[in-house]
Amino acid sequence: MSVPPPIDAWPPGWWAVCRSRDLGSRPLGVVVNGTPLAVFRDPSGTPAALEDRCPHRMAPLSAGRATCGTIECAYHGWRFDAAGRCAAIPGLGPSDRADHETRRVAAAQTCETGGLVFASGTRELAPPYLGPLWGAQDCHAFVWRTTARGALVDIAENFLDGFHTHFVHAGLIRSGSARQRVRARVRRLPDRIEIQYTGEGQQNGLISRLFERERATTFARFVRPAIAELEYRSRTRIELAISAYFTRAQSDAVAIFAVMSVPGNALTGRLKEAAIAPFFAYALRQDRRIVELQRASIARWGGPRFTSTRLDMMRPHIARLLERDALPSDFEAVHEEELLL
Ligand code: FES
Ligand SMILES: [Fe+2]
Repeated sequence: MSVPPPIDAWPPGWWAVCRSRDLGSRPLGVVVNGTPLAVFRDPSGTPAALEDRCPHRMAPLSAGRATCGTIECAYHGWRFDAAGRCAAIPGLGPSDRADHETRRVAAAQTCETGGLVFASGTRELAPPYLGPLWGAQDCHAFVWRTTARGALVDIAENFLDGFHTHFVHAGLIRSGSARQRVRARVRRLPDRIEIQYTGEGQQNGLISRLFERERATTFARFVRPAIAELEYRSRTRIELAISAYFTRAQSDAVAIFAVMSVPGNALTGRLKEAAIAPFFAYALRQDRRIVELQRASIARWGGPRFTSTRLDMMRPHIARLLERDALPSDFEAVHEEELLL
């Protein structure tokens, strides 16, 4: 049995924990970067995240209740505040100090924005990364939550790769018969990799024919700590942005929080959401199936042995960004490629 890592061993950055709407008045048990967490709200609604383990007899704190700015253990009622300090031990008198260091629970820093609750094991100075349409007026955003089994790097690569869409999503996103000559401008920054595709025109898949007029530019990005983003632009505006926040959960399960943003007021935004959602859910299922087949095959063959071409340009950057490697000294910050997509 592997021991969960402590919160302060997490890779730096903000990790998505849950959707805002999934955290109500009851505590929630989640696993982030392999660490079980009990997440709860204080009376002002601010989320708190503690290791999900009562220091008394190790009952999971997430099975308890949130009360008076603390989480109360379901077993003997010990209470812990948002910083993990023991605030009360029922049965002890006022002369017995509750807040003894050995009774403390490790706490993560939290932040709630963009419809998501985030946690970090380090002191973050900057707020979490939010997508390009976030905060824009006349924009409607909705958040999906799903999980996939596989390595985070494989799941992120799948999300950002256009070259599987002709096969995995044949007819839905693209089809194999018609390839377009596109230009890919690759830009690497210390915290992200971004590819800008131009020359695509309209896609021949069902989703594009139903929901898109003309496509001028597509951006594909991977941003630290683990956010994959697709941004589709017409000549005048961003038509759709999908920011997928990946969080390693248990063993090889990855939680995916996909924030989809479309221009429009509340009503047209909701209509678009209702129209796009079934197609998006279907595409996600197709991706999950192939990624899980890939995972099983990698396991059966004793680990990854890949060969790549220049079409797989995202992968090495995603791997380095996840590993927090420095940029290679000979790296070109910007370069261009011509591809048949
Ligand atoms: S196990 Fe939590 S109070 Fe006893
Ligand atoms: Fe896909």
